Parts: sequence; structure tokens; C-alpha cells
Amino acid sequence: MIHDERSPAIEMRGIGKRFGATAANADVDFVARFGEVHALVGENGAGKSTLMSILAGLYRPDAGTLAIGGRPVRLRSPREAIGLGVGMVYQHFMLVEPFTVAENVLLGQERAGPWLETGAVERELRELGERYGLAVDPRAPVWTLSVGEQQRVEILRLLHRGAKILILDEPTAVLTPQEAAGLVRTLRGLAADGFCIVFISHKLDEVLAVADRVTVLRRGRVVGSVAAAESDRRSLARLMVGRELASLVERPAEEPHEAVATGEPVLELAGLRAEGDAGRPALAGIDLAVRAGETVGVAGVAGNGQRELAETITGLRRASGGRVRIGGADATNRSPGEIARAGVAHVPEDRLADGLIGGMDLAGNAILRRYRRPPLARGPFVVARAVAAFADRLLKEHGVAAPGRRTRLGTLSGGNQQKLLLGRELAGEPRLIVAVHPTRGVDVGATEAIHALLRAQRERGAATLLISEDLDELLALADRIAVLFEGRVMGIVPAAGADPERLGLLMAGVDGGGVAPVRRVAVAGG
Ligand SMILES: Nc1ncnc2c1ncn2[C@@H]1O[C@H](COP(=O)(O)OP(=O)(O)OP(=O)(O)O)[C@@H](O)[C@H]1O
Ligand SMILES: [Mg+2]
Repeated sequence: MIHDERSPAIEMRGIGKRFGATAANADVDFVARFGEVHALVGENGAGKSTLMSILAGLYRPDAGTLAIGGRPVRLRSPREAIGLGVGMVYQHFMLVEPFTVAENVLLGQERAGPWLETGAVERELRELGERYGLAVDPRAPVWTLSVGEQQRVEILRLLHRGAKILILDEPTAVLTPQEAAGLVRTLRGLAADGFCIVFISHKLDEVLAVADRVTVLRRGRVVGSVAAAESDRRSLARLMVGRELASLVERPAEEPHEAVATGEPVLELAGLRAEGDAGRPALAGIDLAVRAGETVGVAGVAGNGQRELAETITGLRRASGGRVRIGGADATNRSPGEIARAGVAHVPEDRLADGLIGGMDLAGNAILRRYRRPPLARGPFVVARAVAAFADRLLKEHGVAAPGRRTRLGTLSGGNQQKLLLGRELAGEPRLIVAVHPTRGVDVGATEAIHALLRAQRERGAATLLISEDLDELLALADRIAVLFEGRVMGIVPAAGADPERLGLLMAGVDGGGVAPVRRVAVAGG
């Protein structure tokens, strides 16, 4: 490798960055070396993405200095940053779907056009892929790739451009546990070859497994930088939030809850079929019921129909066969508005595509679902004061860190957007909640709060369909877990005492044999 191992790759000193009244970064010192994986952690809104966007040339700091590979620099664009060997993988990928992997890698590079050099690039990509465990077919069009594969393309593209410092902003939030483990191996391999990796994540176990050092931000400031080997979940969480977190003290503290007597079926799916985006069958006949007061978890490796299941129930995708019943009434192929009015809350997988409007302010986003109803509306008029009060209460109750209800949603950190969305969806006392990855990108404290919210909804009697890739989350919240594989329910098991290994087999499409759809027996008691 070109660089001396252990020499400073990144030296940020006294970095300050304000957005209006918000100090996103204040007097931040951040130093990372070649040959190490350096994790950056902190609560939602702590300033992680801002700091790394400065390093990647996207934002200019208001104060402080920056050196890369020992040389002081002043970055004016991401292009300059990449020229100096700094590349960032954002959460929203920037790939061109109809183009192949190799064409995407060539795009924007100053070499000749793709038609001339794809052969050479394909070879280089295969080599890089083999070396770092980033296998992906260079000739595959990007739209045919899974999210995990697209992320590999993003990393390959930066490596191909000569990046020596790689920044990954919550890369595992969109990955299955298996893919996340693969990425961890890749990053360790890159560090061993002398790269400097900056890794942002809310999953502290993962941080401790991959990182050499961990720097903790709180409210825009560095509150500690520690060797991963000398740290643990608890001490990191305490640094992040400045207090002890109940759920981290002993694990698993989220004991399976008592069964409550479940009521009438609220959601009933019978032979439900739907097609995926590529026109392939995504749901191949789903039979499933969720009762009042019951949480049914849906487990599975991403891409086995989870997204389509949520979309078909909530009116965002057409059912091509079978039926959806909500509260006993037929709701097949109704519009999203009609489904919402039937008392269905939806926490979508992609909050900025299906749930929130980035260009609108927080108050507008808070009332998106209910602006036509009293008390927010009187006849055709929206009552401004009621809206303001409703929005303020939502922000406060759900701990959304933001200057105020007039703030543009797009300027909120990812986790704070999610908190707002959840607060809004659960505010209407829904009878059915369809929640897809509700804690994705959310910090440990807020995850705890969201779990508490979902538990309270269950106790209130809401039926919940909880789609998650986090088995711990499913085991903590669900009464029963349905495993999806290739658009079918492979099996349904009670969450209490569920064997993760058995779930893993079902997720891989192996029928455990004689797994009857058992409903949890209600147990009375204290
Ligand atoms: N473009 C912007 N305009 C206004 N405010 C912004 C902008 N970008 C970030 N902020 C604010 O700066 C603060 C830090 O945000 P940042 O996105 O860096 O946090 P984060 O640590 O990455 O959080 P998360 O874990 O939720 O992703 C937040 O209060 C956020 O609302
Ligand atoms: Mg962020």
C-alpha cells in the first residue's frame, strides 16, 4: 500500500459547523489512521453525518482545520475529496439503475467513455471483488441487484477511483445480518491492507466487533475516543446519552411480555398474491391473521416479499390475487388514503419515499394524515392553532430534536425523521399497525422508546404486523413470528421460547418439518 500504516489519515481540528441556530459540530477534533477501522457513534442528531460530510467535501466547515494524509487541505467539492483519496458511501445510493455495474463505476470518471473500457474495468472489479469479498457481477444491470449488492458496487466504485479513506454512513442499516457480517469482514480486510475506514453505526455490538477505535459525539461535541478493546456496550451507551440505559444494563432485558388475551382478527390475509417491481411474483399466496392485542412478527431475509407484503396491505401495491380484510371488511386494492382511514398506521421501509415530505416543514409532515379531520380542520379549513399545538406536542412527546415545527423535515437527522413518523402514525390510535424496520437508523435510546410505544399499542389492543430483520427485536416484541421465504409463509412459531436456529432454517427455506401454525396460549398471571 502507498501509505505508512498507522500514519494519520484524517486530522480534523476544532471543526465547527452551524445550520442556523443548530450547532451540528462544535470544536470537534477527529483523528483516524491508515490501517484502522474508526467508528463514529452518537445519538440521532449528534452530528456524525455532518462531520463526515465535511470530510467528504460536501459541506464546508465554519471553523477548524482539516488535514488528509498529513497535508492541510481545504475541500470545495466531493470531487476534490475523492481526488485526495476520500470517498463516502451514503445511505441513499447514487447508482444509475439501467446501467451495468461496470458502467456505473466508469460514470463520472475522467477516462474515456464506457463503451471503450468496460472490459478492463470488469476485470479490475472482479479482482477487487475477490480480494475484499465484494463479489458482484460487473455485467449485471444495477436494477437487478439487491440492496446489499448495490452497496458493494458503491464501495467498489470508490476503491476503483483510488479512495484510501472510506467513510460508510450507517452501512449495515440496510443489510441482513448475514450481509452485515460479510461487510464487517470486508472492512477488516481493507484496514489490514492499510485503508482508513470510518464506520458510522447505532449498533454497538457491531461497532465493537469491527472497530479499532470509537469516537463518541454528543450534541455536536466529542465526548470521548476510546480503543474498542477497552470498551463495551454499556460504557459507549453511557458516553452517548450521558446516562445509564435500562435495556443495556442486562441483556436481554426486554423479556418476552405476558400474553394478553387476543381479540377479534383485525388483519386477515387469504391467498394474497402480488408482483414485485420487476414483474416477478413477490407474494405467492399468503395466509395470515393478526388479532387485536397481538403482535405478529415477520422474519425473513430481505427480498423474500416483506416489502411487497407491507405495500399490498397498505394500498401502495396492487394485489394480483387473494384478499385483504381489515376489521372484517374487504380492503383489497383500496387506495392508501382509504386504508389509512380504516385505522391503519404504516411505518414504511423508505420513510422519505412513502411517509414524509423532505421539502415540507415538520408541522406539515406531522398532520399529513389527519389534516381533514377535526380538531385540525373545521369544515374545509385547517385550524392553524390546532395544527401548531398538535405538531408541538408530537415533537415533544417523541423527543424529536429540531429547532421547531417550522423546520424543514429534510434537514433533520435520519433518526429524528423516524421518530416524527412513528409519533404521527401512532397518534391516531390505529387498530392495525404495519411497521417495517421501525428502528432502522435509530439510536439506542430512541430504539428503547419506540419499543415501549409499540408495546403500549399492543396493550391498548392494536393489532401489529412487525416486519423486521432484527431477530432480537422480533423476539422482544412479537407474540408469534411468521417466516417469509420466496413470497410464502414457511412457518409460524410462537415467539416465547422460539429457537433462533430453527428460525434461521426457516428463513433459509428449510422446512423444520411439522411446524404447525401455533397460536400462543393466553396465560393469566402476575
Ligand atoms: N442541511 C441541514 N440544514 C439544517 N440542519 C441540519 C442540516 N443537516 C443537519 N442538520 C442538523 O444538524 C444536526 C446534526 O445532524 P446529523 O445529520 O449530522 O446527525 P447524525 O449524528 O448523523 O444523526 P443520525 O444518527 O440521526 O443520522 C441535527 O440537529 C440536524 O437537524
Ligand atoms: Mg446521520
